[in-house]
Amino acid sequence: MSSSHLYPPPEAAVKGAYVSGIEAYNKLCAEAEADYEGFWARHARDTVTWKKPFTKVLNESGAPFFKWFEDGTLNVSYNCLDRNVERGLGDKTAIIFEADDGKVTKVSYKQLLAQTSQLANALKARGIKKGDRVVIYMSMSVEGVVAMQACARIGATHSVVFGGFSAQSLRDRIEDAGAVAVITADEQLRGGKQLPLKAIVDEALALGGCDSIKNVIVYKRTGGNIAWTAGRDEWLHDVVAGQSTTCEPEWVEAEHPLFLLYTSGSTGKPKGVQHSTGGYLLHAALTTKWTFDLRPDDVFWCTADIGWVTGHTYIAYGPLALGGTEIVFEGVPTYPDAGRFWKMIQDHKVSIFYTAPTAIRSLIKAAEANAAVHPKSYDLKSLRILGSVGEPINPAAWEWYHQHVGGGRCPIVDTFWQTETGGHMITPLPGATTLVPGSCTLPFPGIMAAVVDETGKEVPWGQGGILVVKRPWPSMIRTIWGDPERFKKSYYPEDFKGKYYLAGDGAIRDEKTGYFTITGRIDDVLNVSGHRMGTMEIESALVAHTELVAEAAVVGRPDDTTGEAICAFVVLKRPRPTGDEAKRIAKELRDWVGKEIGPIAKPKDIRFGDNLPKTRSGKIMRRLLRSVAKGETITQDTSTLENPAILDQLSQSN
Ligand code: WT7
Repeated sequence: MSSSHLYPPPEAAVKGAYVSGIEAYNKLCAEAEADYEGFWARHARDTVTWKKPFTKVLNESGAPFFKWFEDGTLNVSYNCLDRNVERGLGDKTAIIFEADDGKVTKVSYKQLLAQTSQLANALKARGIKKGDRVVIYMSMSVEGVVAMQACARIGATHSVVFGGFSAQSLRDRIEDAGAVAVITADEQLRGGKQLPLKAIVDEALALGGCDSIKNVIVYKRTGGNIAWTAGRDEWLHDVVAGQSTTCEPEWVEAEHPLFLLYTSGSTGKPKGVQHSTGGYLLHAALTTKWTFDLRPDDVFWCTADIGWVTGHTYIAYGPLALGGTEIVFEGVPTYPDAGRFWKMIQDHKVSIFYTAPTAIRSLIKAAEANAAVHPKSYDLKSLRILGSVGEPINPAAWEWYHQHVGGGRCPIVDTFWQTETGGHMITPLPGATTLVPGSCTLPFPGIMAAVVDETGKEVPWGQGGILVVKRPWPSMIRTIWGDPERFKKSYYPEDFKGKYYLAGDGAIRDEKTGYFTITGRIDDVLNVSGHRMGTMEIESALVAHTELVAEAAVVGRPDDTTGEAICAFVVLKRPRPTGDEAKRIAKELRDWVGKEIGPIAKPKDIRFGDNLPKTRSGKIMRRLLRSVAKGETITQDTSTLENPAILDQLSQSN
């Protein structure tokens, strides 16, 4: 919930801001309200360089499959790279890369363009062309960004898979996307440890179903020992050697899929969220400009991984589209110590810093235990804007971030959005919005967010409800790759008469200000450390252990550091274990889930029962399990429960 402290934008933040003062914000919203298409068309012309200008703005005839700027053509890589070089920014630093071990490399726009063009040429030389899917399974690196830009340059649709996902997860994504190539690294370095990437690609491809893959391109990061499949595997440095540093961009239609990004839903396997080229780029650039107020002298740092949407929009595309200078960081916030973020802000004079509440919360703990890693031990004067993303930020963490990191002078933009939305949806603008800790405040200009009841009717301010977006917007998800029916069912379900985009979150608006506070997911999706996980996905992983597991139910429970924690209730195919045996089996199941999905999906709690709480008709009562997971005394009516005694068993932790 939000607090009642108000933080009006400081004068220094208002002055010179792209959106300066609340009147300027209101004016933009009024413009969008009065002429929705005109508003977006104007910004699409001002923000994006088109090869062939569009004449159509929004096409709603195939709703909910909307089209934006459909007769325009463009290239994202041209917009992010060539255009900046043409504007005289060729020697400007595009990326400051800091490696896990602290080594710093700077890459100019000219160099980034040359590297991208070389890889684009190499991909083309391997027959990869417009519309092909390329999976990128990479560490945080300049090469990772180059791989994405190179795909964009030739019109190949990339699908980045987070380096923490398992071979099984990677395989599923490769198969679903029908990818023709994988770009990876030998290993990744995180927190002083060498972790495998190529070996996991090998394992994924060996699992079968990936016959579409013809090429595996490997960036040599550590030089660690890896296996090699001749004819399929090639080193990145070999494939780009001798390639021209120029490459004519492939001019694609605005609706051409720039990327797929798999994310968790409430049911079944992860869904490939498909994004467009024109509308996506517009929103990536415009939100970077207005939400972060990114100006020519800024040093921007988004700490996300390129494996998540935040790393797509606010590392690979948005800041580059504006000709900004940004940090790409390979490591982790706690290595060599928990002062790493603060030291990097100091060293690189970072002015805009964008991170997740879970990172802030864990760094608060560390700073309270050790003054040497407290932000006060560093010079953070360069900072002017702070950002938060991925989950609600609790007011206490907000206040700490504001005071100790931002020195009380930096606005915090608490940006609410999703993989599906492409960019910020509800967020303060730093030079315009009065902040309230714990509230993401007001919609980005042109985003028609609202809170409604089950019938789709808007509820009064002060009353909680379901978060929706009333009109399509340029960077919205276009479809779920290969499953348009699931797209409709997930986001435009029938009971909403197909009218509004359903975000999957609950929200409440402040009675006086109309400010939005997100109250959390209303479906079976969990948010663990800002990572999105489907409960069903984890349940399927557990029951896939057919030797041990008869039945499993997964719920979330609140956790001080990770926001939510995963709690699994398991019925085994053998008598309910206790003591050391329970501990041993719990560990085995955790490791199993780690292998099936990835370490981020390992349940924190595993509870064993002879059965699960079910209604007489056999339905698992998740509501009860949520209470048990929280450690609450059960006050709910359990009279419909077939087996009430089971709750005591399930309350015992291992
Ligand atoms: C879900 C989307 C946004 C990019 C990273 C996560 C939650 C996200 C906030 C916020 C409260 C937030 C929502 C949303 N969420 N940002 N500022 N305040 N909740 O993208 O993995 O697609 O997850 O994250 O529940 O639906 P994602």
